[in-house]
Amino acid sequence: MSTQTNKTVSSKAKKVTTHVLLEMKEKGEKIAMLTAYDFSMARLIDQAGIDVILVGDSASNVMAGHETTLPITLDQMIYHAASVIRGIQSSLVVVDLPFGTYQGNSKEALNSSIRIMKESGAHAVKMEGGSEIIESVLRIVSAGIPVMGHLGLMPQSIYKYGTYVVRAKESEEADKLISDAIKLEEAGCFAIVLEKIPATLAEKVAKTVRIPVIGIGAGGDVDGQVLVLHDMLGITQEFSPRFLRRYGNLADQIKSGVSAYIEDVKSLDFPNKNEQY
Ligand code: KIV
Repeated sequence: MSTQTNKTVSSKAKKVTTHVLLEMKEKGEKIAMLTAYDFSMARLIDQAGIDVILVGDSASNVMAGHETTLPITLDQMIYHAASVIRGIQSSLVVVDLPFGTYQGNSKEALNSSIRIMKESGAHAVKMEGGSEIIESVLRIVSAGIPVMGHLGLMPQSIYKYGTYVVRAKESEEADKLISDAIKLEEAGCFAIVLEKIPATLAEKVAKTVRIPVIGIGAGGDVDGQVLVLHDMLGITQEFSPRFLRRYGNLADQIKSGVSAYIEDVKSLDFPNKNEQY
């Protein structure tokens, strides 16, 4: 076997696929997922070994400064996703279908998914909803596009809820969530995100379905965890729900680096003789 062939085989073997995620669940190995929206961050978290990168519509909040996820467009999501794809070697890249690009009907959902896959090179799409989106999931999966579901707190429905509080605390909503998870699995979803629901309910869902269940604010008894990168690195400061663990304080580091630079420029310390031509 030539070196070139070896290289191809080993780099392929390293790639995270939807099947790898299923195997991870079967083996009890937890899945680590984070959001990213640009080339540089995607490259860093891929190099750090993240399993799944979500190009979330949270880009609407953390990249564009909107209050909700609703304003972000399909073109903007494709731009973010294509940037992420250029930065990665092995992570699986999943892209959110933005609000208003799939709820109309299953043909619209399929067309939006095809645009994401074709124009960004992403590996899968994610959609919010249960029984309401089953027809779309079936149609997208039958076109060969892997779909990740998203239940519990669904930020695209914030104006229906009126608040970002924990979902499915009452039995009626909890029962619907379990039944929705089963329907999403039956329709062919390869994984489901559960956002901000009681840990006991999330555990029950993870034990009920065979596909991986990835939680955010859903406790530890699920198959993996996802956080918004800007939140866990401490770039966003004002958002601090109970489920968020911070792994850095980049806001302070960025501000002190920039302050030091301003000081150096104003005091004529920068650039010095070694920093010029
Ligand atoms: O858009 C996003 O970042 C998400 C995660 C919170 C799961 O959907």
